Amino acid sequence: MYGNSQKTKPIYHFSDLEKDAQNAIRPEVFTYIQSGSGNEETLEDNVRAFRKWKIVPQFLHDVSILDLSISILGESYEHPFLLAPVGHLGAVHPNGELAVARAAKNTRVPFIGSTVTTFSLEEIARELGNTPRWFQLYWSKDRELTASLVKRAEKAGYSAILVTIDTPILGFREADLTNQFFPLREGYGSGNYFSDPVFRKRLKETPEENPDAAIEELLKIVFHPALSWKDLRFIRELTNLPIFLKGVLHPKDGRKALEYGMDGIVVSNHGGRQLDGVIASLDALPQIVKEVKGEIPILFDSGIRRGTDVLKAIALGATGVLLGRPYVYGLARNGFEGVVEVLDHFRNDIDVSLATAGKARISELDSTILVRG
Ligand SMILES: Cc1cc2nc3c(=O)[nH]c(=O)nc-3n(C[C@H](O)[C@H](O)[C@H](O)COP(=O)(O)O)c2cc1C
Repeated sequence: MYGNSQKTKPIYHFSDLEKDAQNAIRPEVFTYIQSGSGNEETLEDNVRAFRKWKIVPQFLHDVSILDLSISILGESYEHPFLLAPVGHLGAVHPNGELAVARAAKNTRVPFIGSTVTTFSLEEIARELGNTPRWFQLYWSKDRELTASLVKRAEKAGYSAILVTIDTPILGFREADLTNQFFPLREGYGSGNYFSDPVFRKRLKETPEENPDAAIEELLKIVFHPALSWKDLRFIRELTNLPIFLKGVLHPKDGRKALEYGMDGIVVSNHGGRQLDGVIASLDALPQIVKEVKGEIPILFDSGIRRGTDVLKAIALGATGVLLGRPYVYGLARNGFEGVVEVLDHFRNDIDVSLATAGKARISELDSTILVRG
């Protein structure tokens, strides 16, 4: 056990967590986290896809000592999961990403910081101490700003860059449109921009003098719809950090990531928040694994809710997974302690799932433990 976060009744099932979170925060913020784009078919399919695979355990193997560690690009990680980049966490809890960073430090779970955080990447890094951290990049229309963000991340000890490729523009998120809730517009995603010298140079008045004008400027440059494969050369030359592409769904994009010298990919559909009707992330995984042939690590997210989901994704060829909505709900219901509780229970669930699947090590998982159900 990592923490003693059991002041309130402990919470285990994802739907209980979701319900509790709903009761704890503003309805439009809850909806922002919970909802997907369009008709929310992909959001549902992400979870349903896991049910199509069944685990067939083999017993009488020594599972008295469990090893959940994974290795990514030669680095060993104690857990098979990292915290997915999630923006605007100041809308969820006043301590936002700082509370999550502290929970990451307490549980030794690697943290991936979003570009659109409420606090700056340096403030988050201070809270993390020497916890492993990566930086997710929304590639800005302003190339000098993009470079500045990457350089700042390098300096603050982030050890990999995840370029999110599935967001040339924001998906059609009907629930947020209905609520007219746009956290970027409300200033919850400006931590890295308002603190950036290149961004500040673009403004006539400082963000402190005129925050509304600064946010207008941010909205103009946050995404880069013209971004294309050839632009990756720029970031490849800019940094020696490993670069992952987040949002790969097509096997050919997996192959192209290799050709363009990327160090890894994240198979993800952004938790069903970009294009509705796209393939469930888990359904996309096997073909991508086949195409990439083990040449670079393949991380996975979208739909991870419990230990068996981790086993299934890794058995299908993922190197490790990213946990998204569950920890955000933990933050909503109980701040730092709420995140620790979610991570603690998630880790225990993986332990139990592995042992009861008859395996002692995550590294022993492969597709032979699965059948289509
Ligand atoms: C509220 C919210 C905000 C998110 N913000 C970002 C972000 O800033 N950058 C990014 O690359 N992905 C973002 N994501 C996507 C997550 O990184 C991840 O892909 C997704 O949460 C996985 O789906 P799941 O949480 O349903 O498992 C966000 C997801 C949620 C739920």
